[in-house]
Amino acid sequence: MGLSTELANELNNQMNREFESAYLYLQMAVYFEEKNLSGMATWMRSQYDEERAHALKFFDFILERNSTPVLETFQKPKNKWESPLNAFEDAYEHEKYISSSINDLMEKALTEKDYATKVFLDWFISEQVEEESTVLAIVEQLKMIKDSPSAMFFLNSELGTRTAAQE
Ligand SMILES: [Fe+2]
Repeated sequence: MGLSTELANELNNQMNREFESAYLYLQMAVYFEEKNLSGMATWMRSQYDEERAHALKFFDFILERNSTPVLETFQKPKNKWESPLNAFEDAYEHEKYISSSINDLMEKALTEKDYATKVFLDWFISEQVEEESTVLAIVEQLKMIKDSPSAMFFLNSELGTRTAAQE
Protein backbone atom coordinates (compact mmCIF):
# COMPACT_ATOMS: atom_id res chain seq x y z
CA MET A 1 0.00 0.00 0.00
CA GLY A 2 1.38 3.38 -0.97
CA LEU A 3 1.39 6.48 1.17
CA SER A 4 -1.38 9.03 0.81
CA THR A 5 -0.16 12.27 -0.77
CA GLU A 6 -0.70 14.11 2.48
CA LEU A 7 1.18 11.62 4.63
CA ALA A 8 4.00 11.43 2.08
CA ASN A 9 4.31 15.23 2.27
CA GLU A 10 4.36 15.21 6.05
CA LEU A 11 6.99 12.45 6.19
CA ASN A 12 9.05 14.41 3.69
CA ASN A 13 8.75 17.55 5.84
CA GLN A 14 9.96 15.58 8.84
CA MET A 15 12.93 14.23 6.87
CA ASN A 16 13.88 17.82 6.08
CA ARG A 17 13.44 18.86 9.73
CA GLU A 18 15.87 16.12 10.76
CA PHE A 19 18.45 17.43 8.28
CA GLU A 20 17.81 20.92 9.63
CA SER A 21 18.41 19.63 13.17
CA ALA A 22 21.71 18.12 12.03
CA TYR A 23 22.79 21.52 10.71
CA LEU A 24 21.87 23.27 13.94
CA TYR A 25 23.91 20.84 16.04
CA LEU A 26 26.90 21.04 13.73
CA GLN A 27 26.84 24.82 14.10
CA MET A 28 26.65 24.39 17.87
CA ALA A 29 29.75 22.16 17.63
CA VAL A 30 31.59 25.15 16.13
CA TYR A 31 30.47 27.35 19.02
CA PHE A 32 31.86 24.88 21.55
CA GLU A 33 35.12 24.41 19.64
CA GLU A 34 35.63 28.17 19.72
CA LYS A 35 35.00 28.18 23.47
CA ASN A 36 37.64 25.46 23.89
CA LEU A 37 34.96 23.11 25.15
CA SER A 38 35.96 20.29 22.86
CA GLY A 39 34.03 17.65 24.83
CA MET A 40 30.78 19.53 24.25
CA ALA A 41 31.79 20.02 20.61
CA THR A 42 32.24 16.24 20.30
CA TRP A 43 28.83 15.73 21.87
CA MET A 44 27.23 18.09 19.33
CA ARG A 45 29.03 16.41 16.46
CA SER A 46 27.61 13.05 17.57
CA GLN A 47 24.22 14.70 17.73
CA TYR A 48 24.77 15.87 14.14
CA ASP A 49 25.50 12.26 13.09
CA GLU A 50 22.43 11.05 14.90
CA GLU A 51 20.15 13.60 13.22
CA ARG A 52 21.49 12.68 9.81
CA ALA A 53 20.74 9.06 10.62
CA HIS A 54 17.18 10.07 11.60
CA ALA A 55 16.74 11.95 8.31
CA LEU A 56 17.92 8.91 6.38
CA LYS A 57 15.43 6.67 8.18
CA PHE A 58 12.67 8.89 6.80
CA PHE A 59 14.37 8.97 3.42
CA ASP A 60 14.46 5.15 3.26
CA PHE A 61 10.95 4.72 4.56
CA ILE A 62 9.51 7.14 1.98
CA LEU A 63 11.31 5.20 -0.78
CA GLU A 64 10.14 1.85 0.58
CA ARG A 65 6.59 3.11 0.40
CA ASN A 66 7.04 4.02 -3.26
CA SER A 67 7.09 7.76 -2.72
CA THR A 68 9.78 10.29 -3.58
CA PRO A 69 11.93 12.01 -0.95
CA VAL A 70 12.43 15.67 -1.89
CA LEU A 71 15.26 17.63 -0.28
CA GLU A 72 14.37 21.20 0.61
CA THR A 73 16.38 24.25 1.54
CA PHE A 74 16.07 25.68 5.01
CA GLN A 75 17.02 28.71 7.04
CA LYS A 76 20.62 29.24 8.01
CA PRO A 77 20.88 27.96 11.58
CA LYS A 78 21.54 30.28 14.49
CA ASN A 79 25.30 30.56 15.14
CA LYS A 80 25.70 32.69 18.27
CA TRP A 81 24.87 31.83 21.85
CA GLU A 82 25.39 33.72 25.08
CA SER A 83 26.69 30.75 27.01
CA PRO A 84 26.94 26.95 26.90
CA LEU A 85 23.75 26.88 28.95
CA ASN A 86 22.00 29.04 26.38
CA ALA A 87 23.08 26.69 23.54
CA PHE A 88 21.85 23.59 25.36
CA GLU A 89 18.59 25.37 26.23
CA ASP A 90 18.12 26.02 22.52
CA ALA A 91 18.85 22.34 21.83
CA TYR A 92 16.18 21.40 24.37
CA GLU A 93 13.63 23.77 22.80
CA HIS A 94 14.48 22.34 19.40
CA GLU A 95 13.94 18.75 20.58
CA LYS A 96 10.55 19.69 22.05
CA TYR A 97 9.59 21.13 18.67
CA ILE A 98 10.73 17.93 16.93
CA SER A 99 8.77 15.79 19.41
CA SER A 100 5.60 17.73 18.72
CA SER A 101 6.04 17.37 14.96
CA ILE A 102 6.57 13.60 15.36
CA ASN A 103 3.42 13.46 17.49
CA ASP A 104 1.45 15.29 14.78
CA LEU A 105 2.74 12.82 12.21
CA MET A 106 1.68 9.90 14.38
CA GLU A 107 -1.78 11.39 14.72
CA LYS A 108 -2.08 11.68 10.95
CA ALA A 109 -0.91 8.08 10.45
CA LEU A 110 -3.50 6.83 12.94
CA THR A 111 -6.28 8.92 11.42
CA GLU A 112 -5.47 7.41 8.03
CA LYS A 113 -5.14 3.92 9.54
CA ASP A 114 -1.69 3.70 7.98
CA TYR A 115 -0.32 1.13 10.43
CA ALA A 116 3.01 0.66 8.65
CA THR A 117 3.75 4.35 9.23
CA LYS A 118 2.56 4.02 12.80
CA VAL A 119 5.06 1.20 13.45
CA PHE A 120 7.82 3.19 11.75
CA LEU A 121 7.07 6.22 13.93
CA ASP A 122 7.00 4.22 17.18
CA TRP A 123 10.79 4.23 17.22
CA PHE A 124 10.87 8.02 16.89
CA ILE A 125 8.37 8.53 19.68
CA SER A 126 10.66 6.62 22.09
CA GLU A 127 13.75 8.28 20.67
CA GLN A 128 12.32 11.73 21.38
CA VAL A 129 11.65 10.83 25.02
CA GLU A 130 15.32 9.87 25.24
CA GLU A 131 16.54 12.99 23.41
CA GLU A 132 14.54 15.38 25.56
CA SER A 133 15.60 13.73 28.77
CA THR A 134 19.31 13.65 27.84
CA VAL A 135 19.40 17.30 26.79
CA LEU A 136 17.36 18.44 29.78
CA ALA A 137 19.79 16.64 32.13
CA ILE A 138 22.67 18.61 30.58
CA VAL A 139 20.71 21.88 30.91
CA GLU A 140 20.12 21.12 34.61
CA GLN A 141 23.79 20.33 35.18
CA LEU A 142 24.86 23.55 33.48
CA LYS A 143 22.49 25.48 35.73
CA MET A 144 24.09 23.86 38.79
CA ILE A 145 27.58 24.62 37.51
CA LYS A 146 26.90 28.34 37.00
CA ASP A 147 30.36 29.92 36.94
CA SER A 148 32.47 27.13 38.36
CA PRO A 149 35.33 26.48 35.87
CA SER A 150 36.27 23.19 37.51
CA ALA A 151 32.73 21.82 37.30
CA MET A 152 32.57 22.99 33.68
CA PHE A 153 35.85 21.26 32.95
CA PHE A 154 34.49 18.05 34.43
CA LEU A 155 31.17 18.13 32.50
CA ASN A 156 33.00 18.98 29.30
CA SER A 157 35.25 15.91 29.71
CA GLU A 158 32.29 13.71 30.48
CA LEU A 159 30.31 14.85 27.41
CA GLY A 160 33.42 14.30 25.30
CA THR A 161 33.21 10.56 25.93
CA ARG A 162 30.09 10.33 23.78
CA THR A 163 30.79 8.27 20.67
CA ALA A 164 29.10 8.20 17.28
CA ALA A 165 25.38 7.53 17.10
CA GLN A 166 24.24 4.06 17.96
CA GLU A 167 21.28 2.82 16.02
FE1 LIG B 1 16.02 13.62 15.30
